[in-house]
Amino acid sequence: MSLTGLFLVTFLLAHLSGNLQLLNPDGGKAFNEYAKFMTSNPLIKTVSYGLYAGILLHAIQGLLLWSKNRKAKGVKYKAKSGSGTTWASRNMALLGTLILIFLFIHMGDFWWKMHMGEVPLMAGSNDVKDLYLKVDTSFSQWWIVLIYVLSMIGLIFHLQHGFSSAFQTLGLNHKKYTPLIKGVGNFIAFVIPTLFAIIPILMFFDVNLPFMLPHL
Ligand code: HEM
Repeated sequence: MSLTGLFLVTFLLAHLSGNLQLLNPDGGKAFNEYAKFMTSNPLIKTVSYGLYAGILLHAIQGLLLWSKNRKAKGVKYKAKSGSGTTWASRNMALLGTLILIFLFIHMGDFWWKMHMGEVPLMAGSNDVKDLYLKVDTSFSQWWIVLIYVLSMIGLIFHLQHGFSSAFQTLGLNHKKYTPLIKGVGNFIAFVIPTLFAIIPILMFFDVNLPFMLPHL
């Protein structure tokens, strides 16, 4: 779980850096070119298959762990707050399921439409699709923005516990460095989903960055 989880976090970082291009004041040109590169480069396409497998594996591992813990504790037992556990640690399966539901909605709206030829070409181009327009249209609906914001709050809690749990599982325990590693984990767990959530909010209000983000 730790390894698939950390692999998915590296995807989130890469995905976030690409998505931030949506905020460029260029009508979506940089984002559309980035999306074309990501969907046509053979190496990235291969990594994508690893990503789908990683998501599936992480979800199956999570379900198995949840069911094992449930059996070990007895169905009636439930750790209460104040028993040394955090709310997030007691609800990882619930948070994971919510994130999976978010992923179905998210990929159904963007990925499916992009790959099923439902996204038109960008004006003046004969090979770059206008995925920016599709994303912008979705983020002009308040309830879609709300789904993203609530899901990203869930992701903060999931990542927060996920990070500390992953470090523990991998044996990264050190008197001096563990608090620092935990601090960095908490920081990343907060910053990644917060930046993801800011994108739909700014697009809803038609706010662009006053400068172009560098190409990554
Ligand atoms: C502001 C938030 C987000 C935006 C604007 C966004 C945008 C997109 C777009 C446009 C695609 C389709 C790309 C393509 O197939 O060419 C995509 C794919 C995807 N997104 Fe997101 N995304 C966001 C947040 C997230 C989050 C938080 C997750 C995970 C928890 C996620 C997971 C994925 C996955 C797994 C894919 C498929 C990637 C692939 O095929 O390689 N996205 N996203």
